[in-house]
Amino acid sequence: MPRLITLSRAARLVGVKRGALQKKIREGELRTFEGEILLTDLLQSYPQTEVEDTSMLERVEQIMEQAVNKIVRPADDAPDSGALATRVMALSQELATARHEARRLAGVINGLQAQFDLLDSGDSLPDDAFSTLRQWLATALATEAADELETDEIFARETFLRVMEAQIRILPSGHEFLIEGSDSILEAGLRNGLALAYGCSNGNCGKCKAKLVSGQIKKIHQHDYVLTEAEKALGYFLTCSSTAVTDVVMEAEEAAGSRDIPLQNIDVRIRKIERPDDRVVVLETRTPRTNRLRFLAGQYLTLKIDDLPTCDCSITSCPCDGMNLQFQIPVTAGDPLSEHLATNARAHDIISISGPRGDFILNEESSRSLVFIAGNAGIGPIKSLIEHAMALDIAEDIHLAWITTDGNSHYLGNLCRSWDDALDNFHYTALQANGEQSAQSLLPQITGKLGSLDQYDCYVCMPSPLLEPVKNFLTASGAPENQVRVESLR
Ligand code: FES
Repeated sequence: MPRLITLSRAARLVGVKRGALQKKIREGELRTFEGEILLTDLLQSYPQTEVEDTSMLERVEQIMEQAVNKIVRPADDAPDSGALATRVMALSQELATARHEARRLAGVINGLQAQFDLLDSGDSLPDDAFSTLRQWLATALATEAADELETDEIFARETFLRVMEAQIRILPSGHEFLIEGSDSILEAGLRNGLALAYGCSNGNCGKCKAKLVSGQIKKIHQHDYVLTEAEKALGYFLTCSSTAVTDVVMEAEEAAGSRDIPLQNIDVRIRKIERPDDRVVVLETRTPRTNRLRFLAGQYLTLKIDDLPTCDCSITSCPCDGMNLQFQIPVTAGDPLSEHLATNARAHDIISISGPRGDFILNEESSRSLVFIAGNAGIGPIKSLIEHAMALDIAEDIHLAWITTDGNSHYLGNLCRSWDDALDNFHYTALQANGEQSAQSLLPQITGKLGSLDQYDCYVCMPSPLLEPVKNFLTASGAPENQVRVESLR
């Protein structure tokens, strides 16, 4: 029977981005059946798939390491996680072999039936009927369905993945993601770039409540929030306190835009302050464990320290971690808060944050490739957007150009280069300019290698004098206005 698999599993199986599969679907290279694709079609598109590739096994071993002692069995009698993963893989291969053999024998039985029909159709049995039949049977049994062997190897891997990872599908959005190890459904969803509703993330507030439509879940820790008996009977559960045992379909609330994210006021504690150069402060903060910040990549907060004037700062970390928040704050002469952070602030100091605000967020409905252009510390919110885009895994290509002017440094250059080295679809260009005119003259270097700009969504975060010129340049170069989002450096 033809085997259908979801895009997430298909991408994992052949080791490509979901965006690459979506491109093949758009171009008609891969067929979809209610959002799923045929395993055989997948193999035809990726004939080079290495069935012996052990990276998946290693990855699963890591997952097992984290998971097995927590949810599968008590720690004292749990088998070695690597041994368990190897056994599951061996069982998957046995299952694939048995499935292959069953299919082959079904073919032989059908052939035998046809032989009997043939013999039955004559007036009398030929003398050599039985020896001919015996010979036919011997040949049929010796014939391997070799053309399907490779599919069976992939079947074994796919079965293995099904055991190790469950898939979550969210209604009504249709978003889907894989959940690994002992992660909660909420953690896995956030890590995959989804804006699921939540508050405390540890079972106190009830904001992550979702309704199970199908599949099986398991509570992984006790929670103080009390679900009513009626809610339980309807299938409601807390995503922050549950993991998936089987593939799950659930109804859950997701933010579709900034208007769906509530304003929050939280006191955070400084964890670390770094000065990568004398123009910027990188501030790492932590919220209370029971009160994390829900935000969208690219949004900003208002920061307040004691009686100093407040300032608006972009969040430069990923929304997948609402507890550990990062800010990259330009140090500006005459701005008391940035000067205080650069000179007097210490670890453990308290900062009051309020927000989030702002619409400089990813257009998640688009699967176009992405162009990010950052100027100086504008790399901060751009970094948050890029990390979010990587988590969503829908863009085919991501281009980042970082222009620094007037002595500002590429203080995150190592991170950007490491993305460029590690990801086939990520391309980084560092540019240095002297003054605004010089920065503008560098823009053709960015767009020159992109081809037609209407194929891209562009995101620009720059010091304000450069913002309009860059936007005008992009639209004059062919980028549709509704595909260019800009933000002035805060
Ligand atoms: S996020 Fe608060 S109970 Fe789940």
